[in-house]
Amino acid sequence: MIPRETVDKIFDAAVIHEVISDYVNLKKAGANYKGQCPFHDEKTPSFMVSPAKGIYKCFGCGASGNSAKFIMEHERVSFPEALRMLAKKYHIEIVEEYQSDEQVHEKEERDALYVVTEYAKNRFKKWLVDTDEGKSIALSYFKERGFHNDTISKFELGWSLSKRDALTEDALKNGYKIDFLEKTGLTIVKSDTGYNFDRFADRVIFPVHTLSGKVTAFGGRTLKTDKNLAKYLNSPESEIYHKSKLLYGLYFAKNAIVKKDKCFMVEGYTDVIQMHQAGIENVVASSGTSLTLEQIKLVRRFTKNLTVIYDGDAAGIKASLRGIDLILAEEMNVKVVMLPDGEDPDSFARKKNTAELEKFIEANETDFIKFKINLFSDDARNDPVKRTQLTRDIIKSIASVPDKILRAEYIRSVSSQLNVNESILYEEVRKILYKTYTDYKPSEQDLREKISKPVIHLPIETSGIFSEPNEKEIIHFLLNCGNRILAFDEEKDTDITVAEYIINEIKNESLEFKNLIYKEIFEEYEKYFTQNHESATEFFLKHQDEKIGSFVARITGPKKDLSKLWKERGDYSEMPEDRLNESIPEAIERFKLKIIQKKINEIDKQIAASYLEDSILDDEKKPELRDIKNKLEDIKVKLTKFTEKSPLL
Ligand code: CTP
Ligand code: MN
Repeated sequence: MIPRETVDKIFDAAVIHEVISDYVNLKKAGANYKGQCPFHDEKTPSFMVSPAKGIYKCFGCGASGNSAKFIMEHERVSFPEALRMLAKKYHIEIVEEYQSDEQVHEKEERDALYVVTEYAKNRFKKWLVDTDEGKSIALSYFKERGFHNDTISKFELGWSLSKRDALTEDALKNGYKIDFLEKTGLTIVKSDTGYNFDRFADRVIFPVHTLSGKVTAFGGRTLKTDKNLAKYLNSPESEIYHKSKLLYGLYFAKNAIVKKDKCFMVEGYTDVIQMHQAGIENVVASSGTSLTLEQIKLVRRFTKNLTVIYDGDAAGIKASLRGIDLILAEEMNVKVVMLPDGEDPDSFARKKNTAELEKFIEANETDFIKFKINLFSDDARNDPVKRTQLTRDIIKSIASVPDKILRAEYIRSVSSQLNVNESILYEEVRKILYKTYTDYKPSEQDLREKISKPVIHLPIETSGIFSEPNEKEIIHFLLNCGNRILAFDEEKDTDITVAEYIINEIKNESLEFKNLIYKEIFEEYEKYFTQNHESATEFFLKHQDEKIGSFVARITGPKKDLSKLWKERGDYSEMPEDRLNESIPEAIERFKLKIIQKKINEIDKQIAASYLEDSILDDEKKPELRDIKNKLEDIKVKLTKFTEKSPLL
């Protein structure tokens, strides 16, 4: 936690046009500054910065906010991270609240590792251009590959001298500790012989950058043709390097990804660099590993549109297609470009200029379904057995798409391409979804905890905020399965029923119903339940208020008025216990989530309005609003983690 006073200090120190000048070329225009908007593609500048008000605003795309917001949007970081970056710029020390000794120690160790990688990167860069060896072997190799000088310096490419311990020796001489050299993987320590040597000796160096541009690892390519040498060596995992959570090139690509609202995925270092040089900068690589969920989520922070560029050689494509389901599950729009035979992005980009590349991609980009279908020969398409296999495979991919509308689109497309009836496809997708859902089993412990105590409380600030759609879901549960048993409470040695659980949650959290019928039903239900300890459904069916009676009949009767969500999930009044004890806590969490989101939106509006000329909001109120918003965002993250486990939501 950054203390309030520090937050204020940072906001006081941050001069908006200075902050933005680090990213955008600003020109003075009267009392304001003007430049090209970094958030959308534009030819004429419509991005305005007002030092007087401390805000920026783009008249083209509507982006606006203060210094912190700018950093958040531009660097894609959280509010605290943005504050830290601003603090660093203005040399404001942040003494964090509540940091344990252990946390402090870890932070210090990570910082120390970064100091070492930074040093090594600078050495490698220097050795590339300042030594005979570097110039004659490495630099000439990069030139042969077609890398220009500015590309080499942008990507901070380097050369690790051929002497086996050149870096280690130099580092020790300069006071760097062997411990940190080993932990970053730069030095391999042989404790038996006492002889330490460099991991990357005699290789050209590709530094790997974090999202904020710090060097966290290296890749080294040998220039020897010796088959016994690994062509590439990479840094091992360390406290500062987790391969599966990083994408090569993202630091250089993120602005372009946001601007183009699209990200290209290629295989490795050379592909990224060559594409950049050819003028396509929204490119990243997963470097050696097959795509991980974390990497996809990383891209997802910047754009929903991901295009994977495959080599012309088809081997391995089918295997990497497995990664596509992972991407689809993140609600990304996935496209695929296949390069001509024998080309990889590196070789292809080298031969083309920007316009030619863009044209090729545009003409050859296909959605993943077409791509999968094309992978199978015409024979397979005409062979009924093979066609069934293909269809099943594609259906599996479609089932991993969370968005219903997108699923429908894909189904329509498969139906016409493979000539299969849409309703059959729907049926198959539903089967998979249902199976995934019923196969998902949270631990007993998790569930019991979830049910016996509310996990996340709503803060006082959200009182008076409602969420009608979620109210309906809760009332449905109460009326249709109030008497069903949700879990066994070991402490009290009794069963917990659905009604008991829901009533407790609603009361404990002071949740309120806005819809008057729901409100009345809930209040009467609670009264009845406390007195009689049983579901009040029967009681409601005979309710003296006819409106309520017929409403209850409608949602509990044989043809139930199920919401779309529940139609998809099945009839919950007959849902097995082990699904109820999961779905009902989730429904409550969703209820809370919606309320939190509404409050956040409200605060956002207030904050935005406070920057207007005629704002009536006191200046000292702003930090307060920001604090509340941060608190809500924290709760939101916890709640989202809690509900996102269920694949059908
Ligand atoms: N790669 C890797 N580890 C390997 C092989 C390849 O990490 N053992 C990655 C590298 O990032 C490389 C990309 O895959 O940039 C492409 O591989 P490849 O074409 O074999 O590497 P190049 O350096 O381009 O070699 P060549 O000049 O032979 O094409
Ligand atoms: Mn290559």
